[in-house]
Amino acid sequence: MATEYEKLPAALLPWYRENARDFPWRRDREPYHIWVSEIMLQQTRTQTVCDYFNRFLAALPHIQDLACVSEDQLFKLWEGLGYYSRAKNLQKAAQLICENYDGRFPNDYASIRALPGIGPYTAGAIASICFDLPTPAVDGNVLRVAARITNDTTPIDLPEMKAYVSEGLAAVYPKNACGDFTQALMELGSTVCTPRSPKCTLCPASSFCRAKEAGTAVLLPVRLPKQEKRVEEKTVFLFSFEDKLALNRRTEPGLLSGLWQFPNVPGLLDTQAALETASSFGLRPRELVRELHCNHIFTHIRWEMTCYEILCDAAPKNFTWATVPDISAHYALPTAFRQFLTSENN
Ligand code: ADE
Repeated sequence: MATEYEKLPAALLPWYRENARDFPWRRDREPYHIWVSEIMLQQTRTQTVCDYFNRFLAALPHIQDLACVSEDQLFKLWEGLGYYSRAKNLQKAAQLICENYDGRFPNDYASIRALPGIGPYTAGAIASICFDLPTPAVDGNVLRVAARITNDTTPIDLPEMKAYVSEGLAAVYPKNACGDFTQALMELGSTVCTPRSPKCTLCPASSFCRAKEAGTAVLLPVRLPKQEKRVEEKTVFLFSFEDKLALNRRTEPGLLSGLWQFPNVPGLLDTQAALETASSFGLRPRELVRELHCNHIFTHIRWEMTCYEILCDAAPKNFTWATVPDISAHYALPTAFRQFLTSENN
């Protein structure tokens, strides 16, 4: 294990206690709260998560509430966070906790890790923060700190690098301060040891950081070359009838399954083909009022979309019809589609 790791607890703990940002999930160690926050924080910025976190817990204050909530309400609470499988897994895990653990969060790493949607990172965060166990939560921020402290050029995407960092950090976890050490590592990565312009002069670990010494901090961490994203082309329709728009539900399994969407078909249709498609849905298109071009980027896929807003003379029952305020208030519409409702697109 790198000797620099051994110096981290003494350097980071006092710094963290002095400098920790005040987030709503840092006010207690209730596992339900920490769990929800860590799942939300996986793909979303801290400032955005604050509002979602408060709203989620106001609506579902106990694990039992999450276990019982309807999928529609759950998705509405999650709307805009993306990666909706995270919300589905939260609910599945809440149901298991109610069935198998009498509604109390399990308190050992293996049982936490076995819950749906909980990987080594989240299990490490919950076990250390809530139960004071020496289980690191190694995400991109922590890998960056570790690579820099040791001036290690091993690509951080390699599983062996993650394993090396996890084992090395686990060995130096401070007794009775495991949660603070986990959060201190994250905090250092998010606020000081940042990707492009690390603030080494403010860093509590600068006196023993090998990358600082070598002048290589901005070159680290090393990553494997990125995989190209797969492109999917779609034509999306804003069919309007009077003051309402047509929606339908994504029924096929996979990406965004169970959420609402604007009707869409594969491929980029020209206006003529778009109007013919509208007719084939029984919509009696009267006027094409707008054409928009938008992209939406998921982890592995990029949607390239043409959107046509078409005024119609019929509102057939094969679609659900709702006004824009009604959609905003009651339908979980993923950002990929919601962007067509925003003011700059209107
Ligand atoms: N990112 C991931 N987990 C976090 C936490 N607990 N606090 C701040 N940022 C985070």
